[in-house]
Amino acid sequence: MSLFITFEGVEGSGKSTQIEMLHNTFVDMRLSVVKTREPGGTAVGDRLRSLLLEPSSTPFSAQTELLLYMAARAQLAKEVIAPALKSGTFVISDRYMDSSVAYQGYGRGVDLRFVKHLNKSVSNGSIPDFTVLLDLDPEIGLARISSRPLGIFRSGLSGLDRVESESLQFHRRVRKGYLILAKENPERFVVVNGRESKELIHKQIVHELMRRHGGRFPANGSVNPNSSERSA
Ligand code: TYD
Repeated sequence: MSLFITFEGVEGSGKSTQIEMLHNTFVDMRLSVVKTREPGGTAVGDRLRSLLLEPSSTPFSAQTELLLYMAARAQLAKEVIAPALKSGTFVISDRYMDSSVAYQGYGRGVDLRFVKHLNKSVSNGSIPDFTVLLDLDPEIGLARISSRPLGIFRSGLSGLDRVESESLQFHRRVRKGYLILAKENPERFVVVNGRESKELIHKQIVHELMRRHGGRFPANGSVNPNSSERSA
């Protein structure tokens, strides 16, 4: 029995920390689990990631951008997600199809039906069972990432990657889009307040996961929300 879990949210909403904590919890339970991210997670996806995120003076059309994210997703779904789920492995992904609806659909204004249609097609049946939306005012999220040390794409004048450098209005539309998606798909989404402490957020996620999908975990393994403390 497998489970496909995705994390979504605006920039700086704390996904990476929560993914690390949940992954540690699963490892402590001796569950077979893979962690991946979008765009990326495959050789092709990583090359697309560079293209999509490096600060660029050449503008992308919204459709070009959408199709590149979709290409990365198609590869990840086929090469990593579907085989893992088929073999009974749990999958945790840092972003997936909802990111395209929120960023390209609500953020850039690409037709939502088109985005959803492409998502359905490229994911080829690998639809998340459980999606955590870390909800946060983008102003707070962007302030958080601006104070991070410089990284691979954090070397331009602003220190932000191509998407992070978008206007606050853009990031506000993305947040709003996510909240609409969560409302439309309550059976799949759990919305948590990204301003809470990382420990409390982790506990809420584990609680909700067990409430909805406890039956998919090994019979002897109840999840201990504190087990992630090891390396958190
Ligand atoms: P990443 O550095 O992974 O951002 P974060 O750490 O905030 O998750 O970069 C992914 C960026 O790509 C992020 O700004 C959101 C954007 N994105 C889209 O616009 N559409 C998509 O379909 C996906 C998967 C990501």
